[in-house]
Amino acid sequence: MPKVLIATEKPFAAEAVQQIKAELDQAKYPYEFLENYTDVADLHKAVAEADAIIIRSDIVDAAVLDAAKKLRIVVRAGAGYDNIDLVAATAHDVVAMNTPGQNSNAVAELAIGMMIYMARGKFNGKSGSELAGKKLALYGYGYVARYTAKIAIGIGMEVFAYDPYISNEVMTNEGVKPLSKVADIFTTGDYISLHIPANKETKKSITWDLLGLVRSGCTIVNTARKEVIDEEALLKAFAEKKKFRLVTDVEPDCHAELMEKYADRYFATPKKMGAQTEEANTNAGVAAARQIIAFFEKGDVAFKVN
Ligand code: 3PG
Repeated sequence: MPKVLIATEKPFAAEAVQQIKAELDQAKYPYEFLENYTDVADLHKAVAEADAIIIRSDIVDAAVLDAAKKLRIVVRAGAGYDNIDLVAATAHDVVAMNTPGQNSNAVAELAIGMMIYMARGKFNGKSGSELAGKKLALYGYGYVARYTAKIAIGIGMEVFAYDPYISNEVMTNEGVKPLSKVADIFTTGDYISLHIPANKETKKSITWDLLGLVRSGCTIVNTARKEVIDEEALLKAFAEKKKFRLVTDVEPDCHAELMEKYADRYFATPKKMGAQTEEANTNAGVAAARQIIAFFEKGDVAFKVN
């Protein structure tokens, strides 16, 4: 039977681990967990005998693939697969998959929670503001954005979105006002929530051309990837726009400078928290195990990304 390695530098919740084990036990697939590892050499060693790997944000690059002589499939238990070298995976004849949608509600709840945290002045005891009546502009309209929109509409926000891959009809049916170009997101939102993947088109794509457009008092909410923002432009936005705020799930490279100069308008989670719920871990982890079983049993490649 194929051997599955679950390699998670940031481990799944105990409940999720139990349920992943139950799925694999039922299929009679042997497995091994490598959790909390700090040395990539441990990963290289552990992948040597694996036919399949389940990962989170763990890096699967050419070196890992070279060490994984038997590997047929890697499943990223989550949405973003920028941590997998897809070209190297294909060259090694390894199928790469993600588990879209499975952890999205958790990320959406964090995005809303971070908006409230900033609206209330990071709970500093002074009068803050409410989200109701404010404009939320979503950059991207995938699963996380859609869950975020649903909650935001419930709170009473006016929600807008731009996504060239999603029809206006889908948005309007969900009570969201479609925007026709990227710049409109930045001119419209009191809150701008980023929901784009990190790839060669999007990395550093949020430049001063866009950040220079934001309204006074605008808050950028980043539960996507730090790499999508051009940090020079970000620092300029903080310097020139005296009420500009950023709340982000994982520190940008300029974290120390932002903390030093603008701590009242900036917050970053110390470790990526978006998908850190028992429910999200369970949904994504179990989906990953099932996708691996379906791949070996039926040749199912439904969620292949390479
Ligand atoms: C994702 O892409 O699914 C999220 O960023 C969650 O990543 P994590 O599994 O590393 O928390």
